[in-house]
Amino acid sequence: MKILVLNGSPRGAAGNTERMVQPFLEGARSAGAETEILYVKDLKIGFCKGCFACWTATPGRCVQRDDMDMALEKMDAADTLLWATPLYHFGMTAMLKAVMERTLPLADPHIVKSGDVYTHPGRSGRRFPQYLLFSNCGFPDQGHFDGLRAHFQSLAKASGEHGAIPAVFRAAGELLRQEELRPHIQWYFDALRQAGKEYVEHGGISGETMEVLHRDLVLREMYISRANAHWDSVLKGK
Ligand SMILES: Cc1cc2nc3c(=O)[nH]c(=O)nc-3n(C[C@H](O)[C@H](O)[C@H](O)COP(=O)(O)O)c2cc1C
Repeated sequence: MKILVLNGSPRGAAGNTERMVQPFLEGARSAGAETEILYVKDLKIGFCKGCFACWTATPGRCVQRDDMDMALEKMDAADTLLWATPLYHFGMTAMLKAVMERTLPLADPHIVKSGDVYTHPGRSGRRFPQYLLFSNCGFPDQGHFDGLRAHFQSLAKASGEHGAIPAVFRAAGELLRQEELRPHIQWYFDALRQAGKEYVEHGGISGETMEVLHRDLVLREMYISRANAHWDSVLKGK
């Protein structure tokens, strides 16, 4: 199984999103998967121009020559595409959304009804990878991910083939970078490793592991008071 990660954090390999992705990939590799990460911040990927040339003049090919050519090739070769993003204004980052919009050449322009949804089917001969979604955010409650979850549910419904997209959400994600906390939250990184292993071995993440992955890392009140103290000290330092 080939797993391709699209890391949409502007912090790239230094970010909290990466701290979720790495143990998951370790677990996946231990079960035999091949893994690769594309850091979107390091790629040159223009915005979709909305010209529809990829559906008309040059079917299946965008008019822009940039790193999206390489990214689409890798997506084509992957069995699983892991969309990994910090939560920005209740959604994915703009740079990751730009990548998603540039996948338009993979779709056929015709509108078809599949079950109770209208959709564009995949261009003939193209096989879509399975989707996975990882996100972390600064606020301590899971409710912040509702919009992102709904977005990916719509994508899954429209694709017909994906079924439900497994999603791992980490509230209070800024805690993942705090080294002094690490021994106390090792259970979380272990659960990510377990999730990667399960995903490769069973094609999904068990309910038991998902439950662990969505537990609070620390008491919310403690998190909020520490976060506010951090901002106060930064502001005072200025
Ligand atoms: C522009 C911007 C928008 C953000 N929007 C949200 C948000 O809507 N909800 C939230 O809980 N955190 C929000 N955050 C906080 C990030 O999700 C958080 O810092 C996260 O841990 C960053 O992950 P990364 O290190 O992988 O980039 C935002 C941060 C920035 C810079």
